Amino acid sequence: MRSRVVAVSLLLAAAITCAAQSSIREDAAHHQWILNAGESTYVIGFNDQAMLQSLYWGPKLADGAMLPEARMKPERASFDPPIATTPLEYPAWGAGLFSEPALKVDSPNGDRTLILKFDSAHLDAQQLELVLKDVAQPLAVHLFYRVYPQGVIARWSRVENVGKQPFRVEQAMSAVWNLPQDTGYSLSWLTGQWGGEWQLHTSPLETGAQLLESRRGSTSHQANPWFAIGRTSQTTETAGPVWFGELGWSGSWRMMVESTSLHNVRVSAGYNPYDYSYTLGPGQSLETPEFYAGYTAGGHGEASRILHRFQLAEILPGKPDPRPRPIIYNSWEATEFDVTEAGQMALADKAAKLGVERFVVDDGWFGQRANDKAGLGDWYVNQQKFPHGLKPLIDHVNALGMDFGLWVEPEMVNPDSDLYRRHPDWAMQFPGRQHTEQRNQLVLNLARPDVVAFVFQFLDKLLTDNNIAFLKWDYNRNWSEPGWATAPGSSPTAPSADAEKQIYVQYMNNLYDILQRLRAKHPKVEIESCSGGGGRVDLGILRYTDEVWTSDNTDALDRLGIQFGYTHAYSPETMVAWVTDVPNFLDRRVIPLQFRFVVAMQGALGIGANLNKWTPEEMESARQLTAFYKTVRTTVQHGKLYRLQSPLNSEVSQVECVAQDGSQAVLLAYLHSQHFGLAYPTVPLQGLDSRAMYRIHALDNSKYSGETTVQGSVLMGAGVELNLAGDYDSTALEFERLP
Ligand code: GLA
Repeated sequence: MRSRVVAVSLLLAAAITCAAQSSIREDAAHHQWILNAGESTYVIGFNDQAMLQSLYWGPKLADGAMLPEARMKPERASFDPPIATTPLEYPAWGAGLFSEPALKVDSPNGDRTLILKFDSAHLDAQQLELVLKDVAQPLAVHLFYRVYPQGVIARWSRVENVGKQPFRVEQAMSAVWNLPQDTGYSLSWLTGQWGGEWQLHTSPLETGAQLLESRRGSTSHQANPWFAIGRTSQTTETAGPVWFGELGWSGSWRMMVESTSLHNVRVSAGYNPYDYSYTLGPGQSLETPEFYAGYTAGGHGEASRILHRFQLAEILPGKPDPRPRPIIYNSWEATEFDVTEAGQMALADKAAKLGVERFVVDDGWFGQRANDKAGLGDWYVNQQKFPHGLKPLIDHVNALGMDFGLWVEPEMVNPDSDLYRRHPDWAMQFPGRQHTEQRNQLVLNLARPDVVAFVFQFLDKLLTDNNIAFLKWDYNRNWSEPGWATAPGSSPTAPSADAEKQIYVQYMNNLYDILQRLRAKHPKVEIESCSGGGGRVDLGILRYTDEVWTSDNTDALDRLGIQFGYTHAYSPETMVAWVTDVPNFLDRRVIPLQFRFVVAMQGALGIGANLNKWTPEEMESARQLTAFYKTVRTTVQHGKLYRLQSPLNSEVSQVECVAQDGSQAVLLAYLHSQHFGLAYPTVPLQGLDSRAMYRIHALDNSKYSGETTVQGSVLMGAGVELNLAGDYDSTALEFERLP
């Protein structure tokens, strides 16, 4: 079993990179660029007025296919001028554009409009740069396109001041994606709250605009920068067109989905223009984050699988073949702030017996951190809790065969800390105004170079002095009073709101820079992005972090819905899921151990329970469940995910994962509560080889135990019969494809 799983992982890189092709072709005669990514094509062209238009986004066009030349739409009425109805590629506000602009700029002479015309193109293999220039002002806009073989196109822009006076950018989107002009679309999006992230919504896209955003300084629990648009009459989980995308930015962001009264459908995303501006001095430029998007004819399931493959191959720090996530033990729910050397060693002894591979000490190990009222910012080891430093514990954990991880929250400070007493000006603030505390803490202004130096140095020292393999990087509040009195161009005596607003961009770029430098200097260290659970998950932070803490909600029933929503946008590899104690701390729900495990097996399995309370029987079943997970982990984390039955509004749900090379499949099945004694429905599998024979290994004693062998066509046609009954029943089945 073990050697087979290793083989799966070795094959993954090849499968991921060879899955499909990508290319960019220039058709100079027709002023068009044809971008192929996976099974989709995107075409851009400029018209006789040198305006850049989106010409096509949909199923892959045959080689040599030609589209009609770009042309402005005729004026429909004096109220609908061509500029407002033509699907422009990067519409700037000016000349009667009434839909959402990608760019809005104040010019030095007071002119607030722009008309961007095509200037030049630079094409290199997988990347295209189109340069637009304003007809009146010295302003250039560079549009970038990168195609990926998994079926994703990245777009971003750079606004450049080529004049001698400063411009003020008021709104800068990364890109605008135009869908075929039509009605009958439905939009899916994700919202949530602390303890309830990743709630999936789908509703018809009506005329008007739907705004998804964060004004909080970070990605947020409340909305995630992801969208998927299908056709109401055609699109399901398994079939039909889906246009989908996600923005790679961890600061305040905005995504607007518009369906105009003339049925032009557009999705724009980029910096949130709320409380935002960015001043560009002569020669300066502003780059927007990447906005990734794709098209598939294979329904919402295939849209997710494209994103999952893309994230593994192109985004995550371990790309193109990230190593599967180790099984974590984290002591937070067991001990909260009450961490001690002896207590952690005792938990480590037990965790090792379960097959855990990484032991993580959470909050409470540093400064005067008895609770959440003090200590953030004082990153020295607490002498009372760890009299000999962290070394004895780390050595103990390593001797047990596990690596060691540690919680940090580098961007925050408690007012009750030595750091704050020394540097009160390091917290974000407006002069003369009271700070607003949340969880008794303030946000450090990471836009400041001295704060950056402090954060990098303490983390670098922590990682240099200790054998730390992993950081859980937390971020437990949102912004308030986002002032930056020392911003270039501003000062306490002559404050400039314009200069200070650059904090929205500079903070995040500095965060990425710190993460990137730390990883370069400590290449073996892995990082988890956490923000009170899943408050900072996006393709910006995932370039530097290997995984995320999906939610502080560890109740297995709630988790079914949370994880269902999560996988629409992000890969199971990144989705950390712990088995914790019952009654659950959040809702007092009591769920059997196996159900809790089989739910956590959908992602990167971890354990967050107080193992001191587990009976020998529970320890033994946890050991067996963990051992089973290890045999299917690569398939779960790197395979193709099929959401067979949604847990939303259903007592019954299942997910299935199929290894990229088809050699293994896993079925995870749940019954929340049985009614009327009815039998569990038969489960038809997907994505198998219909002619191949599969040997079934069941987690527990079901009718498939032993050496049952079934053909793929039978598993997909007739389906799998499961004997789930009662409340909170669950099972996991492994399907091994025979040669
Ligand atoms: C946040 C995290 C938790 C835990 C606590 C520690 O809420 O999401 O997992 O680390 O902080 O204070």
